[in-house]
Amino acid sequence: MAARGTVLASLVLACLAQACCGNVLFSSLQRTLIVSASPHPGQVLKAGEDKITVTWSYNQSFAAGTDAAYKTVKVKLCYAPVSQVDRAWRKTVDNLAKDKTCQHAIAAEPYSLSGNRSLEWVVQKDVPEATYFVRAYALDAAGIQVGFGQTTDRNKTANLFVVQAITGRHASLDIAAVCFSAFSVVSLFGFFLAEKRKAKPCSTPN
Ligand SMILES: *[C@@H]1O[C@H](CO)[C@@H](O)[C@H](O)[C@H]1NC(C)=O
Ligand SMILES: *[C@@H]1O[C@H](CO)[C@@H](O)[C@H](O)[C@H]1NC(C)=O
Ligand SMILES: *[C@@H]1O[C@H](CO)[C@@H](O)[C@H](O)[C@H]1NC(C)=O
Repeated sequence: MAARGTVLASLVLACLAQACCGNVLFSSLQRTLIVSASPHPGQVLKAGEDKITVTWSYNQSFAAGTDAAYKTVKVKLCYAPVSQVDRAWRKTVDNLAKDKTCQHAIAAEPYSLSGNRSLEWVVQKDVPEATYFVRAYALDAAGIQVGFGQTTDRNKTANLFVVQAITGRHASLDIAAVCFSAFSVVSLFGFFLAEKRKAKPCSTPN
């Protein structure tokens, strides 16, 4: 009974959340932020080592007050189309509640209109090897997206960069695994032969 109540309560909460924040369409957002990032087009960055500097500012061409509701800026690392092909788990959906384009948070900070904001971020080790761009969302007090900016064009073809996973540790783990399985095959085979040889004198006496 209690469990059912909890389920019901969470369903109700989920519906409320859906009603209040779940249906922001990316296509409805104005590109009011100017965002740039340090990697030059095609640059390859090493996860866990290399840094990205992201700079953003409000595009003053927009009417004053367009940003009146802006409270926070959330900067994210986003998959370029080339790294989304055949990967439903990175799919772009216009409804931002379902969008999987930008899965890695770079930073979130209070919105301020004064000049350029600049921040530095080390590409985290858990960032998968892929092609990326950077996007920033302006959020209102309720955490709803109300504007954005990104380092690429609408079609996401320009200014893309690559993150390369550090494979050193993985490679040595792989080598260890290969050695282990080779060793076990050899030892199994050796064991088998030894057994057979041992068995011979007894099983073929005549
Ligand atoms: C600022 O916004 C205007 C109007 O949308 C646009 O034409 C211009 O390219 C933007 N500036 C930058 C640097 O993105
Ligand atoms: C802000 O950054 C842009 C692009 O990097 C640059 O053109 C502009 O001069 C900068 N403005 C200030 C106030 O630093
Ligand atoms: C973006 O893609 C659309 C549809 O594929 C195309 O019509 C448009 O010309 C493209 N724009 C740019 C800037 O590449």
